[in-house]
Amino acid sequence: MDDLGLSLREDDLNMTASSRYSATTAQLIEALQEARARTLELVSDLSGEQLMGPRLRIVNPMRWEIGHAAWFQEFWILRHLGGLAPILAQGDGLYDSARVAHDSRWDLPLPSTAETFAYMNQVLDRVCDTSDRRARDPINDYDESYFFHLALFHEQMHAEAITYTRQTLCYPRPRIGLRQTGDRRPPAEAISGDAYIPGGRFILGDSSGPVFVFDNEQQPHEVEVAPFSISKTAVTNRELSNFVEDGGYQRREFWSDEGWRWRRNAAADHPMYWQRESNGRWLRRDFDEWVALEDRVAAIHVNWYEADAYCRWAGRRLPTEAEWEMAASCEPSSDGGSITNNKRRYPWGNNSPTPANANLDWRAMGCIEVDALPEGDSAFGCRQMIGNAWEWSSTAFDAYPGFMPGPYKEYSAPWFGDHKVLRGGCWATRSSLIRNAYRNYYTPDRRDVWAGFRTCSV
Ligand SMILES: [Fe+2]
Repeated sequence: MDDLGLSLREDDLNMTASSRYSATTAQLIEALQEARARTLELVSDLSGEQLMGPRLRIVNPMRWEIGHAAWFQEFWILRHLGGLAPILAQGDGLYDSARVAHDSRWDLPLPSTAETFAYMNQVLDRVCDTSDRRARDPINDYDESYFFHLALFHEQMHAEAITYTRQTLCYPRPRIGLRQTGDRRPPAEAISGDAYIPGGRFILGDSSGPVFVFDNEQQPHEVEVAPFSISKTAVTNRELSNFVEDGGYQRREFWSDEGWRWRRNAAADHPMYWQRESNGRWLRRDFDEWVALEDRVAAIHVNWYEADAYCRWAGRRLPTEAEWEMAASCEPSSDGGSITNNKRRYPWGNNSPTPANANLDWRAMGCIEVDALPEGDSAFGCRQMIGNAWEWSSTAFDAYPGFMPGPYKEYSAPWFGDHKVLRGGCWATRSSLIRNAYRNYYTPDRRDVWAGFRTCSV
């Protein structure tokens, strides 16, 4: 257990005879309570007006979103698994994201803020009362641990999304009751250049044993990867500003056809939260404040098109998701000419993330220098592959061979094809959620995500 009070690190916990997974129900309940405390902190300082906010394609009204997180927990743990009746008569019509169109969520007869909080408490209290619940899914062979993990990770993802929303809507930085590493740790010696990865056959997907794995990572399968070189760090603000100042946004030759269409329609001349002062220096908007752009901090809030154009300008390319996962999780053989069959759950090994090896859990409340946290290096010397900023890959999000949808059928399958895969998590991602094999996905036009990228030699 780490000092978050978050006990959900499966490889630190003992297996129980009744569970395919290794966290106990008590530990999962503790994790659900911890996640809920964070969700409430993310919204508790906001006015009723702010909790609804403007109707934008890339956000949800937060009053809807927090009720939806509770509804999801009720649906899977109390109703599906437990066979209990719904708490709210209209709950499905308000909160089922598969049924309630996104742009209608501002118009729903939502419970008041106080009623929403009361509903959230009621659901969690019942989830914590394990006395009258079935322990196995009556339809499929999923046990209660599966659904506790599902509800937990779902709420953690929404907490990260709410953090994005606060940036999008220019709200103040959230106040999270975790110990913050406000000093952001002393800068490590600057690193640069590429790590050479010898390539070879490896298993793409999660093959690390009895942990909860979303359906899109299941069916681990062997792939062949040609040797490649990948940057040890993510692209920095300084590097991205060199692209901007070299006319990168105006020069057609760096952009794909689709990317150029996006750029023109969006009238994008630089990263979206950047602003140039009269003296030529760049500022960036950090929640509701403007701060000087930090040279060595990872560049974020760039979409896939922007990352792709930067790569072309730099004579580089984005890694495929297989390359990214190999660089993060494989180890060189003793002769250095190939990889071993050992696959790490995290770049540094199989132990839980800590503040010394990854910037997660809102601890730094923002991105840090790309050189920081050398203890988190991969076996090949790539830094911060977990945490700090999500990293775009060149790969379209699609099913692994043999894909079977999980009980929550809308998690992956509806998004196959037109999304791009991101890897690694950002500073607002939870340490219990993220692993090397975890696949995130967004459409290539999204700039609100805390996403940057690293590059490969062509
Ligand atoms: Fe959701």
